[in-house]
Amino acid sequence: MIEFKNVTKMYDRHTPALENVSLKIEDGEFVFIVGESGAGKTTLTKLLLRQTRASKGDIVVDGKRLKRLGLFTLPRYRRKIGFVFQDFRLFDQMTVYENIAFAMRAVGAGRKRIRRSIPLLLKIVDLETKAERFPSELSGGEQQRVALARALANNPKYIIADEPTGNIDEKHARELIALLSKISEMGKTVIVVTHEKALVEDFGKRVITISRGHLVADRHISQEKE
Ligand SMILES: Nc1ncnc2c1ncn2[C@@H]1O[C@H](COP(=O)(O)OP(=O)(O)OP(=O)(O)O)[C@@H](O)[C@H]1O
Ligand SMILES: [Mg+2]
Repeated sequence: MIEFKNVTKMYDRHTPALENVSLKIEDGEFVFIVGESGAGKTTLTKLLLRQTRASKGDIVVDGKRLKRLGLFTLPRYRRKIGFVFQDFRLFDQMTVYENIAFAMRAVGAGRKRIRRSIPLLLKIVDLETKAERFPSELSGGEQQRVALARALANNPKYIIADEPTGNIDEKHARELIALLSKISEMGKTVIVVTHEKALVEDFGKRVITISRGHLVADRHISQEKE
């Protein structure tokens, strides 16, 4: 479980990027985080990855207070999280297969496990036939699915995606969200940051709205249209 307890983040002394935010996300949930540009969405994901620290309050993940993590415990904590970026961040000189293998080797996975896992991962993201392609030979939606396969490669408990659909067209965006939804049904906790309102309305999920650093709404959107 993820818990924010009265979290404030100040980058400077003037305006807080997040102020007094409290929220809980249970294991296996799918949550959208929405809000205008500058609202504090990326700050929230950075706090979760412990790329930056809360100025006030506590963030507790699986019973661990993030402010207590240190040199040895932080890398282990970060391995629980698979991150998907807006701009994919694939290595252009590597094939799809190599991109995923690289991420697995980086955390010490053996050759056998890599060889066994990658076809399964590519099957989940429906790219079984593209293992030997380079990113430049794929569509934006396909590249983002490779990035998702890579995020899943080390079997993280949490998937966090910051504007994952920002660089792909609407059809592929919907497919990607549907895929992330399927992944949460497989038991992972999925957090998707987006400002695409239409997308959020269609998926019937929990939506947390942040505005100017404040949590202003937390609701479940009903899937039935009026
Ligand atoms: N490293 C930083 N140093 C100082 N201020 C920052 C830093 N990062 C973000 N901010 C400020 O904190 C606020 C929240 O930024 P954040 O990146 O979390 O917004 P966001 O909701 O992700 O916006 P967008 O939709 O444009 O990505 C903004 O006012 C931003 O200028
Ligand atoms: Mg952002």
